[in-house]
Formats: sequence, C-alpha cells, structure tokens
Amino acid sequence: MAEAKKVLLAVNASHNLGLEVDEGLVGGAAIDACGTALPEETFAKCEAAQAILLGAVGGPKWDALPPAERPEKAGLLAIRSRLDLFGNLRPALLYPQLANASSLKPELVAGLDILIVRELTGGIYFGQPRGIRELENGERQGYNTYVYSESEIRRIGKVAFELAQKRGGRLCSVDKANVLEVTMLWREIMQDLAKDYPDVELSHMYVDNAAMQLIRAPKQFDVMVTGNMFGDILSDAAAMLTGSIGMLPSASLDVNGRGMYEPCHGSAPDIAGQGIANPLATILSVAMMLRYSFAEPEAAQAIEDAVSKVLDQGLRTGDIFSEGCQKVSTVEMGEAVLSAL
Ligand code: NAD
Ligand code: IPM
Ligand code: MN
Repeated sequence: MAEAKKVLLAVNASHNLGLEVDEGLVGGAAIDACGTALPEETFAKCEAAQAILLGAVGGPKWDALPPAERPEKAGLLAIRSRLDLFGNLRPALLYPQLANASSLKPELVAGLDILIVRELTGGIYFGQPRGIRELENGERQGYNTYVYSESEIRRIGKVAFELAQKRGGRLCSVDKANVLEVTMLWREIMQDLAKDYPDVELSHMYVDNAAMQLIRAPKQFDVMVTGNMFGDILSDAAAMLTGSIGMLPSASLDVNGRGMYEPCHGSAPDIAGQGIANPLATILSVAMMLRYSFAEPEAAQAIEDAVSKVLDQGLRTGDIFSEGCQKVSTVEMGEAVLSAL
C-alpha cells in the first residue's frame, strides 16, 4: 500500500488530477487501535469518497476472533456490502515479460487477457441462515445458504454483458446448474439477458470444468461471469496464469461508479514484514481506480506503462522472479515504477 500511495500521489500531481486523498484504518490494524475492524470514522470516509483503495486485511493474529468480528467479515465484507459494491472486476492479463513466470507453458498464456466478473455482495457469502448449530444427537453442524435473487443476477449479468461488448464479444457464465437450483436460476437469467445483447456470444460452463479449462487452455476465455464464491476461487487460479497473484488488481463497483480497488491477494502473512511482497497488484489497482471511478484513462495508462517499463528493465520481486532477472524488494519495485512514471 505504501508503494501504491506514492504512485497515486505522483500521478495526481503530474496529471493535475486534483484528487484529495484521505486515510482510515480497517481490519486488524483497526481492531488493534479502536477495537473494531471497521470504525465508523473509516466508514464515513469511505462513504464520502468517490473511490477507495484498500490494503488487504486479515492475518493469524485475528483468526481466533468470533466470525462476525474478524477483519474479513467485519472489515472488508462490511464495506463491500454496505456500499453495495456488487460488481467485482478481476482482469487476468499477462504482461509478455512475465511469460516465464507463469506456471503454464509460455505458449499457453502468451497474449492472455481474461476478465472475471464476480458477483460480490450476495451468494453464499451473505445468505441467511448461517451459523454453527447443535443437532439433537449432540454434534455440531455448520451451515450456510447459497441464494441469489433474480435482480441480483440480472444486475451482475448486465455488467458482464456490457464489458463483453466492449472487449472480445464473448461471455462465459460459470455455474453449477447441474446440481444447484440457485445456479439453475442464474443460468436462466443469463440466457434471458442475452436477448438484449445479440452482439455478445454467451456460453455456459460448470465451475469444475471451468477450473480445469482455465489451466488447460485459458485463452479460450474472454469475459467470465460468476457468483461470489466461484469467482473468488477462479480468480486466484487465473492469477497464477499471469505469473503471480501479486500481479492481479481488482475493482469493486456499485451502480453509480463508486468503487473500491484492491489487489486480489491477501495480507500474505507468510512473507509479511520482510519487504519482499510484490506491490504491482496494488499499484495496478490504482490504475483501475483512475480509469473506472475518475474517468482518467491517460493517468491510468501512464501507470500501466510504467509497470510495463520496469518489467522490461528486468526488475522482479521474488514471486515473479526468473533466471536472468534482477531481484528487487517491495520498496525498490515501487521506486522503479515512480522513476518510470
Ligand atoms: P494471500 O493472498 O495473502 O497469500 C497467498 C500466497 O500468495 C502466499 O504464499 C503469499 O505470500 C502470496 N502472495 C500474496 N500476495 C503477494 C504479493 N503481493 N507478493 C508476493 N506474494 C504474494 O492468501 P492467504 O494466505 O490465503 O490469506 C492470508 C490472509 O489474507 C487471510 O487472513 C485472508 O483472510 C486474508 N485475505 C484478505 C484479502 C483482502 O483483504 N482483500 C484477500 C485475500 C485474503
Ligand atoms: C478476496 C478475498 C476475500 C473474499 C476474503 C478475504 C473475505 O479472498 O477478495 O478475494 O473471499 O472475497
Ligand atoms: Mn480471494
């Protein structure tokens, strides 16, 4: 986040964007300082803002808290839900310089450009009832509810169809309609929506096959649209095709263009504090923010070009490192992007 902030402030100045930047605590840091993962002061700032840049939350220190108080639910999911940020865009784009960092053969990922559209404020993440209950025989049972209403499906479907229209014109809806009624309805609504978008070719795929196809032949996809949990899982898988989850930005949008921007990855506790995390996913999230919430495509492009330039220079954090490149720290990577800007 520190590196992304430098980049944001630099572009704000160089492109005369006139953005006012404020900060608030969220997640574990907020629990430690204020006793709650989303202090009202922070939420008020989010509500007042046109865009939010979020640093990943969560970590072992807070894992033992009751579910409703944990950074993930009380912090991150609370912002998404309270601000109705239902449309999550996760672009998996291969920078050609990173073809060797992908876990797939270079020819399978060369030119890869997939957009995963994930529904973000519904589905099994939010369905009621949920909890852990005691059964008559004395054992406990955990339960969640997978629900989608027609209107929820329709609005995320529209986002996906419209994006597909502007891209390659192909949309793959991912579901489990062979088993789950909720996704039978999902598929039906997607088919109905397709009538309004004759220029988009709609296909359907079961999520298990989609996971396999992403690894087998990822370039067959243009835009994928799916529910909250399937989208969470598939976007992490897609991340690895691009070299590292440290490269994947995301946007979470409401109907009015307010958005929260964050890397797809988490707080990476296994490497936290070592100064080696890849800041590019967060830096690229700043670019998405400028494009989607502030309609500043040139400033966004400047950031993306700067990222491409540092990759050209052979600079790599550990997660995207390959033979012949120069290994750099988080701060060095951020500074290199600044210089390239
Ligand atoms: P993670 O994404 O944090 O880490 C998974 C693996 O990817 C780890 O090996 C990590 O070192 C690596 N990784 C992640 N980001 C990286 C980066 N920028 N550079 C280099 N390597 C990177 O997922 P996890 O370990 O399952 O979750 C850790 C914590 O983060 C949990 O508390 C989880 O709930 C939380 N989380 C938060 C968010 C968010 O706030 N948006 C997203 C995902 C997970
Ligand atoms: C993500 C994360 C979150 C999610 C967690 C931390 C709640 O994994 O943004 O992908 O599941 O949505
Ligand atoms: Mn995730």
